[in-house]
Order: sequence, then structure tokens, then C-alpha cells
Amino acid sequence: MNVLEWRTYNPSGSKRIIVTKELPGDRWLKILQGENFRVEVCTSTNILSISEIKSAIANQCDGAIGQLTEKWGEDLFSALAAAGGKAYSNYAVGYNNVDIAAANKHGVAVGNTPGVLTETTTEMTVTLTLAATRRVVEADTFMRAGRYTGWLPSLFLGERLTRKKVGVIGAGRIGSAYARAMVEGFKMNLIYHDLQPNTALEDYIKAYSVFLESRGEQPVSCERASSVEELLQVSNVISLHPVLDETTRHLINVTRLNLMKPNAILINASRGPVIDESALVAHCQKHPEFRVGLDVFEDEPRMHQGLAELKNVVIVPHIASATSWTRQGMATLAASNVAGILRGHPAWQDYDITTFLGSSPPNAAPSIINAEAIGIPLYSN
Ligand code: GLV
Ligand code: GLV
Repeated sequence: MNVLEWRTYNPSGSKRIIVTKELPGDRWLKILQGENFRVEVCTSTNILSISEIKSAIANQCDGAIGQLTEKWGEDLFSALAAAGGKAYSNYAVGYNNVDIAAANKHGVAVGNTPGVLTETTTEMTVTLTLAATRRVVEADTFMRAGRYTGWLPSLFLGERLTRKKVGVIGAGRIGSAYARAMVEGFKMNLIYHDLQPNTALEDYIKAYSVFLESRGEQPVSCERASSVEELLQVSNVISLHPVLDETTRHLINVTRLNLMKPNAILINASRGPVIDESALVAHCQKHPEFRVGLDVFEDEPRMHQGLAELKNVVIVPHIASATSWTRQGMATLAASNVAGILRGHPAWQDYDITTFLGSSPPNAAPSIINAEAIGIPLYSN
């Protein structure tokens, strides 16, 4: 095992919190120190193993902030509970790395950090869409290689998005913000797939369409797909925003790739395993006009063999939420989740949790996934 470096703040604090990575900003630390907690932060950039985290939990640990790269399951929740721990927050909105049933069994509250990464992640998803559609990375590489010998009518032709169809799979916070960005930005028509109808999104686009018509412009449409297959067949751009669970693992497989238009654009800034990456590589090799933007990978940090060589794929290393504002906001929410639970506060229920970033945050834990399951009272004002 590597000798890991840990930095301790407020060593004589009354409760002990471990944080498995350094987090941006200092507000989160002030929140924990303000509660007179002792805070131990791992300064290594290595991904910690379960046994390294267990050693850090040791005999007394009241709460933890962990990362999406760590498997928080039976092993860690039993160790945390045995050390007196009552709270864990994932430093992420997605929590497919957390076994909620195991946390419930050990009475550990689990938090996540929604709401502060919606727009930031949307902006990267749009960036990937445009970069893939207009071949930005390929053209940049070409330029740097000194291969540009003069303007040509058919140099790096891409696709035109305006008034085409965008398909969004998973219309939660990020999926619907992306849908709106593409509809408002490029007047694309929307088709979405979700287990639930998103009436707020539908109403918004209906009202936007009425506005366009009032200005003498063509309307835009919004429909809920009856199946993933239908959406894939009709969409020019497809963006994936489902949660990752057993029902969405390999949602995009060889059969479904073959349903898409040969020149469709496929974007994934959700979780890598939603796509069968080996099938994707084969499909991109076969269809050079099919373009892809990926922020996430099936087996991070690795890429499937062949992916790196594909010109029709734009790839970035899981950075869709990477802005200072968002990453500091996520840290504030993660610290507030742990501090809120350890202080005995109820779990916040409002959709808007940005109030926790303000100067007088509510006396609540901002986002606790399993509050009801483990009997934490729900906040009401
Ligand atoms: C990032 O992937 C997150 O889930 O926050
Ligand atoms: C392209 O640069 C154009 O002016 O059409």
C-alpha cells in the first residue's frame, strides 16, 4: 500500500471527518471547522482503494466525504458505522458508486451534490456536441500539423444542427437543461425519453414555440418518445443523461447503434457504462460520418482499444462539471450534508439547493438520498 499523505485541520476537534481528496475552495472546510470537527484530507491524487479508505476510517470516524472513483459499499459502510460514523457524502451528483442498501443497513446517511452542476455540465455537453458536429478537434490537429495549405470548399464538412432533431435520453436536471440549450440555441426540435413525462420541460418548450411564432419564426416541437428505439431512429443528435443502474448499463449497444442515422451525433456526459464501448468503437470505425463526444468511459480511466485512434470521436477526461464555481459548490454541499446530519438537522426537500451557497444557509442537510429509509426527518418550513 502506498504511504498516503493526509493533512489534518483542527486536530483537537470533537468529531472526526475524513475527506478522500483535496477539494476546491475553502468554504467547505470552514463549514466543517465551524462545527469544531477535526478534518483529515488525503492529499494524494491516487484513487484510494477500499482498504486504504478503511485504514483512514480506523476506530473513530464520524463522517466522510468520498469520490465517485471509490466503491462505497458493505465494506466501507460497515467500517464507518463500526467507527461511529453516521454520514457520508459523495462529491458528485451521480451515486452509482454507492450501495444505498448497504448504507441503509448500517444507518449511514448518504448525500450527493445536485443543483450546482446542472448548467456547467450542460455547457460541456453542448461543447462536445458542437465539437463533434463541426470536427473541431480533428481540424485543430490538422492545423497544428501544418497541413492547411489553403481554403477549400469541402475541407472538414460537418453537419448543420439548426432545425434538426435532438434526442435526449433521461430528462432530469441536466438532460432537460441540455434539451433547452439545443432548442433555444439552434431551434432544434426535441424528442425525449424518460420513465416520467417532464411536463415542466414540455410546457417551457410549448411557450417558447409560441414566442417564436409571435416573432414570425417557425415553431419548435417537443415530444416524449414511446421508446428509446423510436428516439434513436429519428434523432440527428442524441445525448445521454440517464442515471446508471442495471436498467441503463449498455443502454446503447450494437443493436441500438445500428438504429441511429449513419451520420448521427452521439454524446455521453453521464456515466460510461451506459454505452457498450466496444460496440461503439466498431460502429465508429464502420461509419466515419457518425460522430461522438464522450466525457465518460466504460472503464475509467482506461479507454477501450481503438477509441483513441478514432477521428470521429471527441474525448475529454470526465470534466463536464469542472468549473471552479461548480466544484466549490459541490464541496460546500458535501460538507453541509455531513455537518447537517452530524448536527441532527433534517433533510432539505426543495428542488433548489443553491440557498446553501448563500450567507445564511438553512438548518438542514442539503441532499440526503436515503433520508426516509433511515428515518431522518424531512425539512419543512
Ligand atoms: C460527476 O460525474 C458527478 O456525478 O457529479
Ligand atoms: C467563408 O469564410 C466565407 O466567407 O464564406
